[in-house]
Amino acid sequence: MSNETIKRITSKSLIRMKESGEKITMLTAYDFATAKYVDEAGIDSILVGDSLGMTMLGYDDTVKVTMEEMAVFTKAVSRGVKRAMIIADMPFLSFQISKEQTLMNAGKLVQSGANAVKIEGGSDFIIEQVNALTEAGISVVAHLGFTPQFINTIGGYYVQGKSYENTIKMSETAKKLEKAGACALVLEMVSEESAKYISENLTIPTIGIGAGKYCDGQVLVIDDVIGRFWGNIPKFAKQYANIKDIIKNAVSQYAQEVKKSIFPSAEHTFKLSTEEKKKFDYINK
Ligand code: KIV
Repeated sequence: MSNETIKRITSKSLIRMKESGEKITMLTAYDFATAKYVDEAGIDSILVGDSLGMTMLGYDDTVKVTMEEMAVFTKAVSRGVKRAMIIADMPFLSFQISKEQTLMNAGKLVQSGANAVKIEGGSDFIIEQVNALTEAGISVVAHLGFTPQFINTIGGYYVQGKSYENTIKMSETAKKLEKAGACALVLEMVSEESAKYISENLTIPTIGIGAGKYCDGQVLVIDDVIGRFWGNIPKFAKQYANIKDIIKNAVSQYAQEVKKSIFPSAEHTFKLSTEEKKKFDYINK
């Protein structure tokens, strides 16, 4: 397919997909090559999630991820993607301090190639930031339910909105985020019933991760999907391949072949022309 024929998925496309009942597919990606393959496989949206703190940088949570790190990975992803809408996570402390800082930091991610930024939380302050960003021309994806950047106040990886009352409260917050300009809402670790209620009461699409099948789309962490993650895989993720074992097998075969001088063989070796080789034969006589 030539570049001209590839149409970029936008925030408007996501809303149209919700209206027509077409499910939205989203996966995380953090590097150039993976983003390219995810895009070529036809995924609608790529999230440069701050989960890269764990998957790419080996941190134990997302709180340690910085703006500089997010910008580097966003640039790499954007160079590999032609069709998918790229969403970059605003990392911890990049949007909690002031409107000015929020705008500056979101702007940096957009200049790094993101088509939208994602912000966790639903306090009045966050709703104001969503409004300010949208007014400045930056598309925002909101994120409710379990919000990993709040791990230290939540105290663990717990399902959120587990009662009728909590669901209604979350739905009200979601509506405020929509009114403030959010173009989509990620719902993480929310009961299926709650996610269904919230999705049905919004115009913007919900993208679920551990939120059941009634969301307008689904997102997973690519490392869980392809079996590359080094830690525990959460209950809600499904593994479709085992890249970890493929990597380990290839690497140990390579190492064995080097040890036994099997690699490099003739097909991986450069040779002199017969004429040049003859000169060596003459010298060695
Ligand atoms: O950082 C991330 O990967 C995310 C998803 C879990 C939605 O925010």
